[in-house]
Amino acid sequence: MRYTTLPGSNIRVSVIAMGCWALAGDSTWGEQSEADSVAAVRAALDAGINFFDTAPGYGDGVSERRVGLGLRGVREQAVVATKVGPDALRPEKLVASVERSLSLLGTDYVDLLQIHWPSREVPLAETWGALERLREQGKARALGVSNFGKLDLAELLERGVPATNQLPYSLLSRAVEFELVPACLARNVGILCYSPLLWGLLAGSYRTPDEVPAGRARSRHFAPSRPQTRHTEPGCEAETFAALARIRGCAERLNVSMSELAVAWLLHQPAVTSVLAGIRRPEQALANARAADLSLDAGTLRELDEATSAVKQALGANPDLWQSGSASRYR
Ligand SMILES: NC(=O)c1ccc[n+]([C@@H]2O[C@H](COP(=O)([O-])OP(=O)(O)OC[C@H]3O[C@@H](n4cnc5c(N)ncnc54)[C@H](OP(=O)(O)O)[C@@H]3O)[C@@H](O)[C@H]2O)c1
Repeated sequence: MRYTTLPGSNIRVSVIAMGCWALAGDSTWGEQSEADSVAAVRAALDAGINFFDTAPGYGDGVSERRVGLGLRGVREQAVVATKVGPDALRPEKLVASVERSLSLLGTDYVDLLQIHWPSREVPLAETWGALERLREQGKARALGVSNFGKLDLAELLERGVPATNQLPYSLLSRAVEFELVPACLARNVGILCYSPLLWGLLAGSYRTPDEVPAGRARSRHFAPSRPQTRHTEPGCEAETFAALARIRGCAERLNVSMSELAVAWLLHQPAVTSVLAGIRRPEQALANARAADLSLDAGTLRELDEATSAVKQALGANPDLWQSGSASRYR
């Protein structure tokens, strides 16, 4: 495993983090046992992954509680990131939300406390002020944001610099490259990449759009006729599966798995601090940890750029994976 520092802090994190949303076993992810969740956390630690990302919104505290169980007795070895959700951005509610997170996680501080989504109702100054007070009290070691587009980030930067901005970033979701990567680089804000495997598509789990389960086939890659979609764009299914075929070919040539290649590619992109790979079973912890050691040459990086540029162009500069046009939650 390789380690880096969260920008603006002395907190050392593994470049592969364990994304803990699926530990919730909610409607998005399907059933997930407590035993598998604890085993996955332990396997991640054994593989050198010390960075764990969760949120109160993941199963209304179920993911946080399971992360806490997995880290019982070894909490000090871990860097724990959680969030405050859209309903908890006013100072009083925010403090209550963080106290609940601490109790569920079984700890008296989190290492990285993030705003999950920007608010269009609560002034950012109120929320950021409350977060800074929690940092002064030692309840959060560093502060970050998530899903902050160019304008939201610029507004925040007038008050303070977040350590990180957690954004959707993968070979098949490259919208952040248009504006956000340069904006983050300019102010030393690290990017934490979420959905790096596009829910298993980039692990080669599905050969055709019809094979992708309903909850995972609702992003803007897919036709709007698919169940649960919230966008009104045509989708880019043909481009997506053509790109996947080329990525598969590249992985075969290098004799690595597609997931390893997809995660390693992110680690070669500027501004990326850590890749939050969704991990719910021990073998996924091991497989994703391996990507940290995979070095890609310039020819391979060019090949992957070309393989995915049609999808990048089709989806454009809107980073919202699920909502299009004026409904995009990015600003
Ligand atoms: N800030 C936000 O708004 C936001 C939004 C989304 C996610 N996130 C964070 O980012 C994390 C990761 O994103 P994600 O969970 O959406 O998606 P992801 O990492 O792209 O995909 C996770 C899924 O990919 C499959 N997978 C993982 N490793 C694999 C491997 N080595 N081989 C084959 N399949 C593998 C698993 O599918 P199976 O379930 O089929 O095993 C897993 O559930 C989340 O857990 C969360 O911490 C944040």
